Amino acid sequence: MTVLLRVDREHPAPEPIARAAAVIRAGGLVAFPTETVYGLGANALDSDAVARIFRAKERPTFDPLIVHLVAAESLREVVSHVPDVAVALAARFWPGPLTLVLPRGPQVPLAVTAGGDTVAVRVPSHPVAHALLAAARVPIAAPSANRFGRVSPTCAEHVLADLNDRIDMVLDGGSTQVGVESTVLSLAGPVATILRPGGVSREALARVLGEVQVAQELPTEGDSLISPGTTLKHYAPRAVVLLYRGELVPVLERMRHDLSQHLARGEKVGLLLVDEDSPAFAEFPVTTARLGSVDSLEEVAQQLYGALRILDQAGVSVIMVRDLGSEGLGLAIRDRLTRAAAGQVIVVAEGTA
Ligand code: TXA
Ligand code: MG
Repeated sequence: MTVLLRVDREHPAPEPIARAAAVIRAGGLVAFPTETVYGLGANALDSDAVARIFRAKERPTFDPLIVHLVAAESLREVVSHVPDVAVALAARFWPGPLTLVLPRGPQVPLAVTAGGDTVAVRVPSHPVAHALLAAARVPIAAPSANRFGRVSPTCAEHVLADLNDRIDMVLDGGSTQVGVESTVLSLAGPVATILRPGGVSREALARVLGEVQVAQELPTEGDSLISPGTTLKHYAPRAVVLLYRGELVPVLERMRHDLSQHLARGEKVGLLLVDEDSPAFAEFPVTTARLGSVDSLEEVAQQLYGALRILDQAGVSVIMVRDLGSEGLGLAIRDRLTRAAAGQVIVVAEGTA
């Protein structure tokens, strides 16, 4: 039985938080909202509890977890060395959707880091996550609260759809704001490197760091894995995802062309659409999930995973969507859609529609 407790997003009541903290301290599993997606938390210093996370998610043990801290002051409890650049980044972006990969402290069990000598850490800004960390008084290891390889959860219903009866408790604090996961930035090597684009943009990091490197911007099957969890066929719905990339007009033309062909074959097609594109597809008998305006990538990121789940539930076999560029949150959106498409990116050249 998974206990569901509703909590106010801004001012979580102490009683449900205390119950959740007790579960964490006893070695149990609690899903909780962060500003990015829901996490599946366990006491990061208890390797048995951490092992339960991997079992509940059916996550391979080679994929390390992020350790969540109540404040940057707790960094020294879990990392062996805090470089100056980490202090500067923490001051600018914590609490918030930035994860730093740093040298692992001896207190952190190898189960958390998948046997590695680095540990990923972040301080979440969500009031419920903050209250839980404060009450538990231990760092909390938490991956996204979905079954491995599935779309990350942005509300409690998504968590239960994947993990009901596999975990002890869900704190329901409503929908998450950012909607895509944190940016994972490695400070373990000579150059700061984005291992996973996310809620903090490359441009924002560059304003603090100067130059930032992005690892594996477009991964291909068989690439060596720098961040072990960034496998292709990740964040994937059941349907086949087709991601179209190129200039707007030929891309829309090509999508309309391909859509007609899929429909002619009797397939059930779903469209992930920004509002501005919907007139181009008005005449087609398809299921559409809206992502909001292309002028607000914040809104698109927030809607993305829920929209993918809606199309899956509608039973479509193909999902068509277009790339929205690489500026700001666009890079994270592109990364997740590329993975959902398992590398099936259809690059449309000018004049070939
Ligand atoms: O927004 C988020 O980051 C959410 C919330 C719950 O905090 N968490 C999340 O965790 O997305 P997860 O486990 O789904 O993704 C963590 C990513 C994986 O790609 C993993 O491989 C990478 O971080 N990672 C964790 N520890 C690492 C390490 N020591 N070195 C390199 N990559 C690491
Ligand atoms: Mg995940």
